[in-house]
Amino acid sequence: MRGTTDGNGGPTLLRAVPTGAEARVAALYWEAFGRKLGPALDPPDSGRAFIAEHLHHDRGIVAVHGGEVVGVAGYQLGGRGLTGGDVGDVLAAYGLFRSLPRLAVLALFERTPEPGELVMDGIAVDAGRRGLGIGGRLLTEVTAVAAEHGCHRVRLDVIDVNPRARALYERHGFTAARTERTPYLRTLLGFGAVTTMHRPVTPADARA
Ligand SMILES: CC(C)(COP(=O)(O)OP(=O)(O)OC[C@H]1O[C@@H](n2cnc3c(N)ncnc32)[C@H](O)[C@@H]1OP(=O)(O)O)[C@@H](O)C(=O)NCCC(=O)NCCS
Repeated sequence: MRGTTDGNGGPTLLRAVPTGAEARVAALYWEAFGRKLGPALDPPDSGRAFIAEHLHHDRGIVAVHGGEVVGVAGYQLGGRGLTGGDVGDVLAAYGLFRSLPRLAVLALFERTPEPGELVMDGIAVDAGRRGLGIGGRLLTEVTAVAAEHGCHRVRLDVIDVNPRARALYERHGFTAARTERTPYLRTLLGFGAVTTMHRPVTPADARA
């Protein structure tokens, strides 16, 4: 698979999750979003296995260094996102009784792109490699994918307890479009508001 390098020996970016890297990608996602996904997919081992088993490989950009995935950005486009699995898959994995509250929580995270929109639904960099520019490169690559699919906008959500991620998005051209206050979720999921951010995309953002 052809990748994008930074010319400085940093990670190579790939436009799909390589076969065999599913568990690693699931682990990165879980480490970053376990607090949010836990109520839907706990215990952690089951959650990670569920994510790994239902990945849509072509909906993730991954950063690979020394043969290891060190970062991932997942997105929704054309009706599919990086993390898959429908109601039937949740029922099969967790059984009817344990599935119902999980499906309710997963429904909270359901995001459907509008026409001409790419929705980024998760970005995570290995904890030991944050602050080195990998997240920024993943964002640029996601924007390039959007441009190459003729999208005019990238959309994402950021929670109120993650101001550093929000600062990163703002530096990359995202602006807040609206904030939904969700105080009832603070105890269950650890955040009390979700801000939707937009970044306009032009053909000049395409890589090819
Ligand atoms: C957010 C995240 C993907 C950024 O990746 P990164 O490779 O560290 O990003 P970059 O090196 O390109 O840019 C660094 C900037 O990212 C932001 N950032 C957010 N969380 C950070 C963290 N834990 N460590 C370092 N930078 C972080 C800051 O704006 C930082 O700039 P600063 O050092 O001036 O504050 C990464 O920190 C991460 O995986 N965090 C946990 C998961 C998460 O919060 N995802 C976003 C959900 S909306």
